[in-house]
Amino acid sequence: MIAGYAVPDFISEFWHFYIAGITIVSIIWVMWFLKGQTTRKLAPGEQAELMAPTWDGDLQELNNPLPRWWLYLFWFLIVFGIVYLVLYPGLGKFEGVWNWSSADQFKSEKDRLDAAFNKEFEPFRAMDVMAVAGDPKAKEMGQRLYLTYCSQCHGSGGQGSKDFPNLTDTQWLFGGDADSVKNSVANGRLGVMPAMGDAVGGEAGAREVANYVLALGGKPHDAALAAAGKDKYAACAGCHGEQGKGMPEANFPNIVDDAWMYGSSEAAIIESIMRGRNGGMPAFQEKLGDDKIHLLAAYVWGMGGGQQPPAPVTEAPVAEAAAAAEMPAAAPAQ
Ligand code: HEC
Ligand code: HEC
Repeated sequence: MIAGYAVPDFISEFWHFYIAGITIVSIIWVMWFLKGQTTRKLAPGEQAELMAPTWDGDLQELNNPLPRWWLYLFWFLIVFGIVYLVLYPGLGKFEGVWNWSSADQFKSEKDRLDAAFNKEFEPFRAMDVMAVAGDPKAKEMGQRLYLTYCSQCHGSGGQGSKDFPNLTDTQWLFGGDADSVKNSVANGRLGVMPAMGDAVGGEAGAREVANYVLALGGKPHDAALAAAGKDKYAACAGCHGEQGKGMPEANFPNIVDDAWMYGSSEAAIIESIMRGRNGGMPAFQEKLGDDKIHLLAAYVWGMGGGQQPPAPVTEAPVAEAAAAAEMPAAAPAQ
């Protein structure tokens, strides 16, 4: 209820009167009841009446009036309730003369905290992620954020677990340079791989393809099975590429390197194929905003596995390759 929090919850006037009415009638009833119970005083010398038979030998219920202090406590609570309902919202849609709302209070507290955070964050805003990663103060702030928002999935030390990638090693599913890490945190990574059992001819086919994947990655494998799996791998190439290198930018993982989320054993690969995989890294952009993500990306980058940005892959290599081959760099298409 942040946007439009001033809108009352009631969709029709009826509920406003209904609830306010019940509240007011209850208060009046309680006052009436209390008064009815307390006006009677014992005349001098009068004995309180016995209200019920005696229990347990000597336990009796008498109709003495309530002790005064107890009574005053009730009246005090009623007055408190009325004053409260005048000052604060509580009576139907009446907002109270102080115009207080929990949303306003939340907002002002949040603004105050944000202002404090902004002041602390100020020096890091202009620094790049790798530089921020080296700053002890930023690390402390980043760690606090990490423990709050990330540790439940990636572990308090970032070591991950099955289904949740390790963030401290140098193996990255989606890139370990500062921008890629930032991208993972800000936009999330939703990996959706359908179950492929039918496409590869069941469990036996999956075993063949798994061995082909292991072969592509240069890992120990069964050559006969791998050969049989080569054609079936066509079902996978659309996402993981002919060579199994994937497309990290589209969240299709490389399956020929050493970065595995679900395991690189034959059994784990078969399981990936048969069951499909749906890893979900939530997007944090909206929840945390640029500044906190900047700190978090730096903290993660600094956990030990941070990599340098990849060399630009556009012009330079083409130009170099062209120069090496003594050809004009940008030969017009013919
Ligand atoms: C529609 C695209 C798509 C197809 C087709 C597909 N995959 Fe995947 N695969 C993915 C995605 C996305 C992931 C990552 C899932 C995640 O992040 O949880 C994945 C994950 C995997 C993994 C786990 C990687 C790890 O790190 O543990 C293996 C192994 C794998 N795929 C093998 C295959 C094989 C073999 C085939 C063909 C039979 C195949 N995939 C077909 C998209 C696909
Ligand atoms: C709900 C569990 C969950 C939470 C919370 C979570 N992550 Fe993730 N994270 C994942 C999963 C699952 C993946 C792998 C995504 C995939 O399968 O496609 C991932 C992937 C990543 C990656 C990419 C790793 C790689 O190898 O490229 C980074 C970086 C990352 N998370 C950082 C964070 C940070 C920082 C936070 C806290 C702001 C966070 N995560 C919170 C589940 C989570």
